[in-house]
Amino acid sequence: MMLTCNLPLLYSTNVIERLILASFLTRDILFMNLLHISDIHFGPYHWNADDSLLVTRLNQFNADIILNTGDLTSDSLPEEFQQMQSFLSQLNCPNIVSILGNHDKYSKRSHELFRTYIYDGDFIEPKYPDKVKKAKVYIDSKTINLDIHFSEINYFRSFDINGEKVLLICVDSTKFQDDFGYMEEQIIAAMSDELGKNTYQRKLLLTHHSILATDNDPLINSKRLSDFVLDHDIEAVFCGHTHELDIVSLSDLIRGRQFRQFMCGSLSSQNIAREANMFCTYENFGTAQEIITITRIYPSENGMEFVDTVIG
Ligand SMILES: [Fe+2]
Repeated sequence: MMLTCNLPLLYSTNVIERLILASFLTRDILFMNLLHISDIHFGPYHWNADDSLLVTRLNQFNADIILNTGDLTSDSLPEEFQQMQSFLSQLNCPNIVSILGNHDKYSKRSHELFRTYIYDGDFIEPKYPDKVKKAKVYIDSKTINLDIHFSEINYFRSFDINGEKVLLICVDSTKFQDDFGYMEEQIIAAMSDELGKNTYQRKLLLTHHSILATDNDPLINSKRLSDFVLDHDIEAVFCGHTHELDIVSLSDLIRGRQFRQFMCGSLSSQNIAREANMFCTYENFGTAQEIITITRIYPSENGMEFVDTVIG
């Protein structure tokens, strides 16, 4: 069913939950359900809880696409990537999209491990490799005997969801062995060229580091990525990294464009700061019937308690 959306500006809650639903959704768009998980952190940062209970709960949501926004591992180890693969294989959704977090870029084999265990696709190369400024985009092939010397994981995936062509732009905001983020300009240039080759009805972007919020280990050139989002009329950004919840919108008065950013907390980390573990679901995303649900998770001796907060 086709919908015409006119969503008024609605909500504002406490400091952590700045939930601003957009007033700019006036396009004709179709229903799409998204499940957002992040910072699962297999390895030492992973919680001591029964993951099977979590899988059962996640599978109760009928997701068209699952967005997994990085920190799959604690230390980029092969067994941690393998555990991530096993976990994702239990989710009942054919469209699962994962990106790297800073914890996944601690190894010179991170790119290879991502290909082996998570997704082996066509990754975007820098437009002009000799102009790359980001450190270790290419691992030194003269001194290190690896099969793969390219370290970045930037890629596009498109899905047909209820008759609409939806593009997922997956960016690698991580730096090699560094918790700060940085986007390589030559990757942004290559992605811009790629976007010009096809038409998509909806465009969503996944990045581990936030582009609209700051923290102790931020994306250093976040403005460059927010410009990319605005220039290409990308509808929404999904991120993780801080293990906290933050949902905000940006309105660029010069361009006359807006987008929303959804920062999901950590799904299953031991290393949580001021928030519980959680995941988010977005039903009928971007429509007047949109329902955002934040599900906080409290493991107990007898199982696991899930507490929903419904927005919209
Ligand atoms: Fe994390």
